[in-house]
Amino acid sequence: MEKFIVRGEVRLNGNIRVSGAKNAILPIMAATLLCSGISVIHDIPYLRDIKVMQDILSLLGAKITRENNTLIIDTTNIQEVEIPEHLMREMRASVFLMGPLLGKFRKVRLSYPGGCAIGPRPIDLHIKALEKIGAQVEEKFGFIEARADCLTGGEINFDYPSVGATENAMMASVLASGSTIIRNAAREPEISDLQTFLNKMGAQIVGAGTDTIIINGIKKLIPVEHTVMSDRIQAGTFLVAAAMTHGDLIIENILSEHLFSVIDKLKDIGAQINIGRNCLRIKAGDLRGVDLKTLPYPGFPTDLQAPLLSLLTIATGTSIITETIFENRFKHVNELIRMGAKIKVEGRTAIIRGVPKLTGAIVAATDLRAGGALVLAALAAEGISEIENVYHIDRGYERLEEKLQSLGANISRHKMD
Ligand code: UD1
Repeated sequence: MEKFIVRGEVRLNGNIRVSGAKNAILPIMAATLLCSGISVIHDIPYLRDIKVMQDILSLLGAKITRENNTLIIDTTNIQEVEIPEHLMREMRASVFLMGPLLGKFRKVRLSYPGGCAIGPRPIDLHIKALEKIGAQVEEKFGFIEARADCLTGGEINFDYPSVGATENAMMASVLASGSTIIRNAAREPEISDLQTFLNKMGAQIVGAGTDTIIINGIKKLIPVEHTVMSDRIQAGTFLVAAAMTHGDLIIENILSEHLFSVIDKLKDIGAQINIGRNCLRIKAGDLRGVDLKTLPYPGFPTDLQAPLLSLLTIATGTSIITETIFENRFKHVNELIRMGAKIKVEGRTAIIRGVPKLTGAIVAATDLRAGGALVLAALAAEGISEIENVYHIDRGYERLEEKLQSLGANISRHKMD
């Protein structure tokens, strides 16, 4: 168990490069199971969730090597279609393996992913989608087993545009005998990256990025090489870090078109942002409160709600944040209150009254993005903060302390007593 110790009130300055997106990498790693052979994926950060996905693929029979930021995945000898319970528990995203294993081997067995810190996160939409394209799905004794003698393709009309269910449906249907149409599909950029990867492999998919995706089933996919898209959530976290510390940052390898809702909100809050080619400069200004609501893409991303909430604790006036995607996604609020923030939560709404300054305190990360938000608060706070349970942060931010140090932050990693 490790913690960060942060001495706050240091202005962040300099250049920082955003790495490949965890939420694009995980489904793409799963998609390599759809072919037999060696796939090569570039710009892979060292993250705990990616290591768990590597472990699961290895257990299924894949051979994986890592050369710096490149993953080489050989799926020639996949023998298993069952994902062990302890790895399912470790990472909910292992549910992505359902689609490709069913698509390629016509059978998959995994334990129910269960709840997690940010809400119950059911998988009913994933299961319904697989049934619509011809799978028989059985749920018993805490396990889910899906089989299909013949995957026919079909019409999937999602009640809600779930990111994971859209990706699973795409991966399950690429090798079906007929066509599949997904309506009310999620439109997140990571879905477009998955489409690009699958189409390079030979799939015939159109529509990712819109609410209707059409997949014409084909017989075989081939292994390919791919560089994943940059991580819009990591980029957004650095933007907030600059705004919170009155800093001046140039953020490289950023796709600003993926971040318009965030950039607009930061401008409303008072930041100056100049967009260049694959890079962006942010200079902090006086911070003022705003209201925001998380929504499916292209709305404001739920994964940046916690960082923005941190920022709004020191913005002048009152702000209101409404979280519409996940329940229980205000766990960082109690920790921020320990640092002097004035926040009241009512159901899915947080009302924030800006204070001139936060003060350092001992706080604990409760999940990945909440942990990121606490680091940001500590960077701005007066005095020293300790952030416990850094393992949550390591799931999605690669060596965050080193990146922040390179921008001037006073942050270090320590073993917890
Ligand atoms: C993905 C992202 C996560 C992000 C989220 C929303 C990855 C690895 N994770 O998660 O970082 O916060 O999108 O942008 O890409 N739901 C159901 N039934 C289902 C599936 C989902 O009710 O079968 C609900 C969830 O409980 C949640 C909402 O739909 O309330 C959104 O979930 P979803 O879009 O599926 O998110 P994930 O794919 O889990």
